[in-house]
Amino acid sequence: MEKKRNSFGGSLGFVLAAAGSAVGLGNIWRFPYLAAKDDGGLFLVIYLILALTFGFTLLTSEIAIGRKTKQSALTAYGKVSKNWGFIGIIACLVPLLIMPYYCAIGGWVVKYLIGYVSGAGTAMADTGYFTSYISGVWEPIVLMLAFLFVTSFIVARGVNKGIEASSKIIMPILLLLVIGIAIFSITISHTDADGTTRTGLDGLKVYVVPNLEGLTIKTLFSVIVDAMGQLFFSLSVAMGIMIAYGSYVKDDDNLVKSINQIELFDTIVAFLAGVMIIPAVYTFMGREGMASSGPSLMFISLPKVFRAMGRIGPIIGFSFFAMVLFAALTSAVSIMEAIVSSFMDKFGISRIKAVILEAVIALIFGTAVCLGYNKLYFDVTLPNGTQGQILDIMDYLSNNCLMPLVAIGTCILIGWIAKPKYVIDEVEKTGCKFSRKWLYIVMIKVIAPILLIILLLKSLGIFTLI
Ligand code: ALA
Repeated sequence: MEKKRNSFGGSLGFVLAAAGSAVGLGNIWRFPYLAAKDDGGLFLVIYLILALTFGFTLLTSEIAIGRKTKQSALTAYGKVSKNWGFIGIIACLVPLLIMPYYCAIGGWVVKYLIGYVSGAGTAMADTGYFTSYISGVWEPIVLMLAFLFVTSFIVARGVNKGIEASSKIIMPILLLLVIGIAIFSITISHTDADGTTRTGLDGLKVYVVPNLEGLTIKTLFSVIVDAMGQLFFSLSVAMGIMIAYGSYVKDDDNLVKSINQIELFDTIVAFLAGVMIIPAVYTFMGREGMASSGPSLMFISLPKVFRAMGRIGPIIGFSFFAMVLFAALTSAVSIMEAIVSSFMDKFGISRIKAVILEAVIALIFGTAVCLGYNKLYFDVTLPNGTQGQILDIMDYLSNNCLMPLVAIGTCILIGWIAKPKYVIDEVEKTGCKFSRKWLYIVMIKVIAPILLIILLLKSLGIFTLI
């Protein structure tokens, strides 16, 4: 006899848990630095268009697959169509790869949070502090472990008492912190030694107004690819998470409403993360500093901004890293749940055993990620041209290779094999109106797979024409 599957207590619990999954390091660390690199406004407009079309299509498909099959990724795809179970294996590999480095970065966030509490804010803004910290042997491993332990504890408590309950507490606090810091960020101003004054409001303009000067097809295309890759990571699609969470949604829940709310929540937080960060970095570092910060924006540039803020800096720094920690935690919980629920469905083991198994895997690979900056240090050039260590290899494999593959597989499976009706029927079964139905059909059958194939070829370094 099949055991009764756990389910979220209500649609609010589901929306907050899914939004908690979506809102994570992707929104706060990745989105602002990509927006800064791609000159703000244009990236933002393209991201919003893609979120409403492409993101919505994948999110809807995955949640519907989860709820209909009542399975997590590893076994759900094979239930949709017998020969397509292999997509489930790839979809389960993605969170397995992401979890270790997500915990390593979670550990870095803990370090900075402790730093602001213990008055080390000035030292943390020194050039070289971050590099010297991650090159240390023990501390990054210990803090990675602490982050992994808390995540495992929440997942071990289960869908209601762990995931849903923690999201209901953390998400409102997170939203308040994000709004508070964003408002603060646009009210600041700074005068350089040469007398140039920049304000947060100028920075906000840089962020939201598209700058089309000197725009070429090549740069436009690279902004689209950046925005699309970001969207995957941010919405937690193509990594098994939304299938697992979808499988816990009650059959009488209005999916259209919940999906709209998740999409809105994630996009608003991604946008506000930009408002928190870009005007502040622009005010203190100018346009050049903003565009050149890259992935180190959160750990290297922002502490400098907090230091330049004077006495209020440590308080803002503390609030900022507390907010990042909350966001990272609810996402790490969902990444782990995607794996744990897959292990439970496939091998019939208990939640506790599945959590221990995944925690051990994450511990081994997470340690390798931390050691990648010292004992196991080597530098590779990846096929997409970026250079990196173990973390970057895992990020590249998951984000650039496997996630587009899972998404392409999902589009072909739903668009052409099971047919869009599979998802549409699931969405409409409670009698709610699927308002973007036609958009969904065109996206899942044609536009999304084409865009995804281009994205994959570009990531693999095969498609270099544009
Ligand atoms: N969606 C999660 C994030 O943005 C994984 O970090």
